[in-house]
Amino acid sequence: MPAPILPAHEPDALARAADILRGGGLVAIPTETVYGLAADATNADAVAKIFAAKQRPHFNPLIAHVTGLGAARKQAKLSDAALTLIRNFWPGPLTIVAPRADDASVCDLACAGLDTIAIRAPAHGDARALLSMVDFPLAAPSANVSGHVSPTSAQHVAEELSGVVDLILDGGQCFVGIESTIVAAPLDGPLTLLRLGAIPVETIESVVGPLARVTKGDATIAPGMLARHYAPRAHLRLNAETPRPGEAFLAFGAMSGHANLSESGDLTEAAARLYAFLRALDATGVTGIAVARVPETGLGEAINDRLKRAAEGR
Ligand code: TXA
Ligand code: MG
Repeated sequence: MPAPILPAHEPDALARAADILRGGGLVAIPTETVYGLAADATNADAVAKIFAAKQRPHFNPLIAHVTGLGAARKQAKLSDAALTLIRNFWPGPLTIVAPRADDASVCDLACAGLDTIAIRAPAHGDARALLSMVDFPLAAPSANVSGHVSPTSAQHVAEELSGVVDLILDGGQCFVGIESTIVAAPLDGPLTLLRLGAIPVETIESVVGPLARVTKGDATIAPGMLARHYAPRAHLRLNAETPRPGEAFLAFGAMSGHANLSESGDLTEAAARLYAFLRALDATGVTGIAVARVPETGLGEAINDRLKRAAEGR
């Protein structure tokens, strides 16, 4: 049975979502980055449904979404550097990976058995309202089948996961459009960038100084960083100047007559539109999508990271 899509602003929509979550069900929720597939993070049976619905490997841990610092402290041991990050970037698209608190309530399965936990406080109003109605963190990976393009609208979620969620809460188009930046904050050792994302690295570094980087293939500290990910069905060709026969073209900047990430060359707009364009072009049935060059500055670094992973291995 297809899941109902309920506009979040309708009376009782959030209450209904909260009830389903309390009962151990799955709700797709809007966040500012991408839609999440949410369950009670303290309920291992509910969390198991997330892994099954996404066909996600169990070694890949989930982000626990919280209302803010108070709830985060119950789950994680936060260093001074982590607290600085939280003060500057929450609520918002920054995920912090920190050692789990001794009496943390988030289940082992959500953390894939690791002694660290990923936490973030989303900025989206509906996500915040829902989190304040339930008294547990929400485990929520992106609401797509593992490896596919992340969803930035309720419709995208319905296309992939309609049969396996109990409710899709429609909070409109995600206004950031690309996943959170992930930074590891160990109690001793440097802050380390684990995933490029919605907050540009230089913005974070302007607050906390240079971030350490993961060396390629360090699967133990960044289990989800698969080379091929965020991928449409069509083959992706990057840094293209013109499409070849049979290819769709995804433009950037002043280029006319094509799908265009941002006519004005605005990287924030491009990030917000990226996944919707990849899905729409893929749905036309083309065998390839040629993508124009996107500058490697600011959010462009995260956009290019996603494009490279989407193009990998084909
Ligand atoms: O913007 C986002 O972050 C979205 C929205 C829904 O919040 N969520 C998201 O979740 O992108 P997901 O599961 O698609 O990506 C989370 C990443 C995965 O690569 C996972 O391996 C990593 O976070 N992660 C989770 N817990 C971790 C941990 N303890 N240590 C290292 N990496 C972790
Ligand atoms: Mg994902």
